[in-house]
Amino acid sequence: MNPETRALTLYRDTFGAAPLAVASAPGRVNLIGEHVDYHGGHVLPVATSERTACAVGPLAGLRAVSEQGVPAQATWPPERLGLWSDYVAGVAAAMGPETGPWSEGLAVAVASDVPLGAGVSSSAALEVATAVALARWAGRPQQGRELAEIAFLSETEFVGMPCGRMDQMASALTPAGSALLLDCRTLESRAVPVGIDIVLADSGERHALRESAYAERRREGLEVLALLRSHASEIRELVDIPPGRLDTLTRILPANLARRVRHIVEEDQRTLLAARALEQVDFATFGALVNASHDSLRDLYECSTPRLDTVVAAARRTRGVLGARLVGAGWGGSVLVVCEPGKGGAVAERLSADRALALPAVRVVVPGAGAVGPGA
Ligand code: GLA
Repeated sequence: MNPETRALTLYRDTFGAAPLAVASAPGRVNLIGEHVDYHGGHVLPVATSERTACAVGPLAGLRAVSEQGVPAQATWPPERLGLWSDYVAGVAAAMGPETGPWSEGLAVAVASDVPLGAGVSSSAALEVATAVALARWAGRPQQGRELAEIAFLSETEFVGMPCGRMDQMASALTPAGSALLLDCRTLESRAVPVGIDIVLADSGERHALRESAYAERRREGLEVLALLRSHASEIRELVDIPPGRLDTLTRILPANLARRVRHIVEEDQRTLLAARALEQVDFATFGALVNASHDSLRDLYECSTPRLDTVVAAARRTRGVLGARLVGAGWGGSVLVVCEPGKGGAVAERLSADRALALPAVRVVVPGAGAVGPGA
């Protein structure tokens, strides 16, 4: 049964009536362009074919049930509880908790095939699915970008995770079977054919300091921007720095901040080159750029771990692999392995069979479709 049907059944079993709207949205895997979304750079995610579905209807107060988490209950308008239901409540909060047909409260049932904690942004899938379901229920024809923005506000303002816009935009807008080349400053995007096979290897490592480390990198970025702008006022975002001026401009920065900004500027360039390589079916170049991305995340952005480096090295030694890198925020999580066309299954098997690596999960990612699509 697909998640939409399961969400519908779960809703009916829990609340004793049919939901008034159901919608689903995918997770995402970013092929390249890491830690540039909150600096106005380019990213290149694909949607997963696994989706999260959300069924909604009226109630007094909030009651949310899910196949995966404990049931949650709250008063209305919702407040942050520190539970999974915050992602849902945050969407209602961003859409106006008192202005829709949910003005008294919300009944929610969630069913999902998106793996939790595997680095595919299950939270964005839940937020976008909720936003689409609520927009349908309210009869508000909203564009994909607007829905992604609502989902983004849920994550940043309500849940309190200071992320960039990539995850929610990818979950809402990615065209079926393609990657989405997204300019995170203008929010313009275009479809890029994928061609290669994609494997995701969960390292099994969950870094306790991940969220604080992410927030620290964001603070460092703001510090760099302030320092550089006092010398070059035309720089609005770090990705505005021409690569040729990096050496000169970063001379005034402390060494660690110079490393951060070099990663951001070069990763943005790599993403544009990688999109072009995919369009030109030049998979060897694409793989080399993916490898360079990891090396930069490890040495310059310093968000890798010894465990991630070990998994990346093992993946790169595997036959059929074009490149490998940590994916998502880093500090633990998953490794993206890009493979020659048709080799993903064999690579995944080899990596899971590697006893020394002991990877808890290795999956082939089949590109899916965003909840709304690019045109809507
Ligand atoms: C997390 C965030 C994204 C992005 C990545 C790093 O996944 O949610 O917005 O910043 O890290 O590229």
